[in-house]
Amino acid sequence: MNSICKILFALFIFLLPARSIGADPIYNKKGQWILPQGYETWVFVGSNLGLGYVGEPSTPPPKFRNVYMETEAYETFMITGEFPEPTQFLFEVYSAKDRVEDGEINAGVYNSELLSVVGSVKDSRRPIRNASKENWAYYVFPVHEGQVAEAATARPDSQCWSCHNEHAGYDKVWVQLYPRLRERLEKY
Ligand code: HEC
Repeated sequence: MNSICKILFALFIFLLPARSIGADPIYNKKGQWILPQGYETWVFVGSNLGLGYVGEPSTPPPKFRNVYMETEAYETFMITGEFPEPTQFLFEVYSAKDRVEDGEINAGVYNSELLSVVGSVKDSRRPIRNASKENWAYYVFPVHEGQVAEAATARPDSQCWSCHNEHAGYDKVWVQLYPRLRERLEKY
């Protein structure tokens, strides 16, 4: 590498944004949230099996939900106890399977088929959709033949936000179900 290349390379590294890839939500021209690449490397905050919501009972067989929180928002939350702007959550919904081909397993269930990816974003600068002025918006990315949709439109507040607003433990998030997040808040 000659010295000009080295200087340009050093400048490039210096000018890289401090926040890592995936830290900020990205929207397309339609205002849809684009599925963040690499979200499976975010912080895994909790999982649950077969939870049913009031009015939407869980239909058997039970499904897993594995919940991830964007890493920088998680780190900020652990320091301040607040969900910063932006905060992104995504959970994967998996079917629960209890056996494998060679019959080596005789108890318990595991994550089998990915059924959908569901997310929320706290971002007051998001494109306003469905007349909502709320900072939190909610999205469902369907899975079709193993492929997760690339982008999703914010759901109307009545479908998702209203239940989170009324019943979630802290700032619209179900912190009561995520061990590290609830431990952080119990310190206060
Ligand atoms: C009747 C109440 C209710 C409704 C309606 C609802 N949720 Fe939730 N949501 C929950 C509960 C309970 C949890 C925590 C457990 C879980 O499901 O993982 C949760 C968790 C989540 C999470 C994980 C982060 C967090 O806030 O805890 C996301 C993302 C989410 N929901 C998105 C949605 C979307 C998208 C919709 C609308 C399509 C929706 N929710 C509708 C009750 C609800």
